[in-house]
Amino acid sequence: MEKWRATSRHLLRHFSKDLFDRRMSPSFGTFNRQLSSAEAVDLVLLSFVSVATTIQRNPLFSSISSDDISHFKEILGEKNVIHDEEKLVTANMDWMRKYKGSSKLMLQPRSTEEWISLSVVAEWIDCALSGVWPLKKAALAFRKVNSIYFQSLVQSFNLCLRISEMPPHSLFIMIRLFLQALCLFASSTYCDSDKLGNYGTHLILQVSQILKYCNSRCLAVVPQGGNTGLVGGSVPVFDEVIINTSSMSKIVSFDKVSGILVCEAGCILENLVSFLDNQGFIMPLDLGAKGSCQIGGNVSTNAGGLRLFRYGSLHGNVLGLEVVLANGTVLDMLRTLRKDNTGYDLKHLFIGSEGSLGIVSKVSILTPPKLSSVNLAFLACKDYSSCQKLLLAAKRKLGEILSAFEFLDTQALDLVLKHLEGARNPLPTSMHNFYILMETTGSNESYEKEKLEAFLLHSMEGGLISDGVLAQDINQASSFWHIREGVPEALMKAGAVYKYDLSLPVEKMYDLVEEMRIRLGPAANVVGYGHLGDSNLHLNISTPQYDDAILAQIEPFVYEWTSKHHGSISAEHGLGLMKADKIFYSKSPETVSIILVGSYLLPKSLCVDIVQLMASIKRLLDPNGILNPYKVLPPFLAS
Ligand code: FAD
Ligand code: MLT
Ligand code: ZN
Repeated sequence: MEKWRATSRHLLRHFSKDLFDRRMSPSFGTFNRQLSSAEAVDLVLLSFVSVATTIQRNPLFSSISSDDISHFKEILGEKNVIHDEEKLVTANMDWMRKYKGSSKLMLQPRSTEEWISLSVVAEWIDCALSGVWPLKKAALAFRKVNSIYFQSLVQSFNLCLRISEMPPHSLFIMIRLFLQALCLFASSTYCDSDKLGNYGTHLILQVSQILKYCNSRCLAVVPQGGNTGLVGGSVPVFDEVIINTSSMSKIVSFDKVSGILVCEAGCILENLVSFLDNQGFIMPLDLGAKGSCQIGGNVSTNAGGLRLFRYGSLHGNVLGLEVVLANGTVLDMLRTLRKDNTGYDLKHLFIGSEGSLGIVSKVSILTPPKLSSVNLAFLACKDYSSCQKLLLAAKRKLGEILSAFEFLDTQALDLVLKHLEGARNPLPTSMHNFYILMETTGSNESYEKEKLEAFLLHSMEGGLISDGVLAQDINQASSFWHIREGVPEALMKAGAVYKYDLSLPVEKMYDLVEEMRIRLGPAANVVGYGHLGDSNLHLNISTPQYDDAILAQIEPFVYEWTSKHHGSISAEHGLGLMKADKIFYSKSPETVSIILVGSYLLPKSLCVDIVQLMASIKRLLDPNGILNPYKVLPPFLAS
C-alpha cells in the first residue's frame, strides 16, 4: 500500500510512474442534460403524496391453474417451468430485498441446437433455390411464418394451402415445409415433454408461445433478467408469471471489422466483456452489477453506468432489437446498421421501457475497440465546488482522452471502508470531503501520461485537488474501482436504504444532499455519489431500518426539489414500481393548467400530455396490460 500511496506533496512523483493497463472506460463528455418541454414545469405539484400508494391487484388478471402449468411444460419442457416455492424465493425478491412478490411460477425459455440445425438445412435449400424468383419469394414467406407460427402439422397444412396459391414450381418449398412440420409433429407427439424442451422449439417461438398464451388467458407477466434492478421493476408485485431470460445466453455473431455484436438477451454483461476482450473490443457500458445483470435488462432499463460519459447511452449504441410483444408476435428490428433512416426508429420505444412493452429477446450492439493506454486517478477535493471546477478543467484539457469522472463523498467512502470486504482507503492519512475517480483512455501511452500528469500537477497547484494517487497497475486500478462500485453494496449492508437517482444541473446537485442532511438530522446518514460527468447524483439515505416517518420527510420533498430544478427523478435506474406514480414530477404534470415550456408559458390544453401519450402506446402494444403491470406508468393509466 505504502508503495503507491501519494500525498499532495509527492503526487507528481507517483503520477509519473508507469501505469497500469486495464479497465477500458468511457470518455468524451456529453455533458448535456435533456430538458424535455414537459420537464420545464414551474408551477408544480405540491399535491403529490409521499407515502407509498397501496396497489390493488388488477382483478382482470387470471390466477395460475394446473392446466396453465401443463401447457407451459408442453412448450418449455419440465425443467424450465419452475413452480417449487423454495426455488421461487429469490426470483420474488429484488436485489435490495425491498420489494417482494408472490409469484407461483417462473418460466425459463432457452434456445436449442437441434432446431437451429433444422434451420440450417432450410437455409441450405433456400440458397439452392435462390436463383428462382418465385421460389425465393415463397421461401421468404415460409421463413416468416416459420419463425412465429410453425408449431403443428395442422397449422402447417394451412400454410401449405396458402403457399399452393403460388406458381406450381413452389412445390419444392411445400415439400420442405411439410417435412419440417412432420419432424416437429413427431417430436411433440412421441417425445416426452422434457425432450420437447430440448428438441422441439426455437427460443423465439417459445417466448412467443408463452406470451400468446398468457395474453389469451390474461395472465400477467414480469420479465426478469439478472434481477439487479433498483426500482422494483424486475420482481412481481402479486402473482405475475416470471419470465426469466437467464437461459437465453448465446452470442449469435460478432463482426470484427464493424465491432457489431449480436447476442441473446440473457447474456450476462461480464460474459460479453470477456468475450469481447479476446477479440480486442469492449462493451460500451459498464456497471457495478456486471457480474449478474444481463444485456436484455440493460437495454430494458437503458442502463447508464461508468462508460456513458464517453460512449453515450444505449439509445446510441444499440443498433437493433428483436422483441416479442404481449400477444406473442415478433417485432424483428434486429438490424446491424449504424445508419437507417427509413421512418420511425421503433427500437427506441423498447430501450428503457422496463419490460412494459415487450420482451427483448436479441440485441445488436456497437462495441468500441479496446484501447491500450488507461490511467486511473483517485483524487481528493476539499469541497464540492472544487469537484465541479475539476470536471470542467478536465473536459477542457483532457477532453479527447477523458473516459470517466465519478464522485463520492466522505460519507460514502466511510461506509465502503466499514462494510465492504477488501476495501482500503487509497489516501489513508486523512479523510477528505470528496473523492473523484478520473480515468483517461487512449492509444498513446507516453503522450497521455505526460498530459495527465501535467494536468494533475496544475490542478494541485491551483488548489482543486488536495491529495491523490494514480494507479500503478491493474490491481490498484481494480481496488480504486472496487470502492466506487462498492457503494451500493456497502449501503445495503449498513441497513435500510432510501435510494434516489437524479439528473440535476451539476452546480445544484450537491445542494440537495446538504439540504437533506439538515432536514433529517442525525436520524439518518445522507450519502451522495454518482456519475458527476453525466450530471447524475445518487442520493442515498441510510438508516438502521425502514421507517415511514423518515420516508415522509424525504418524499415528496426530494421529487419536488428535483422538479423545481428541472431535473429528472430517474437518471438511469428507471421508474419501476418505486416511481410509477411519480412520473408526473418529470413529465407532464396532471394538476396544472399553465406550463412553462422553455421560456414560454403555455396553456396545458395546447401541449401534448406526454404521460397520456405513453399510456396510449402501452395500450396499443399491450391492450390487456399483462406486461409488467403496476410498473413505469401509474396503474390507473396503463390498463
Ligand atoms: P432486471 O433487474 O432483471 O430487470 C430490470 C427491468 O428490465 C425490469 O423492469 C424487467 O422487467 C426488465 N427486463 C429485464 N430483462 C428484460 C428483457 N429481456 N426484456 C424486457 N424487459 C426486461 N444501473 C445503472 O443504470 N447504472 C449503474 O451504474 C448501475 N449500477 C448498479 C450497481 C449495482 C451493484 C446494482 C445492484 C445495480 C446497478 N444498476 C445500475 C441497476 C441495474 O443493474 C441495471 O438497471 C441493470 O441494467 C438491470 O439489468 P438486469 O438484467 O439485472 O435486469
Ligand atoms: C451506481 O452508480 O453505483 C449505481 O447506479 C447503483 C446505485 O445507484 O446505487
Ligand atoms: Zn449509477
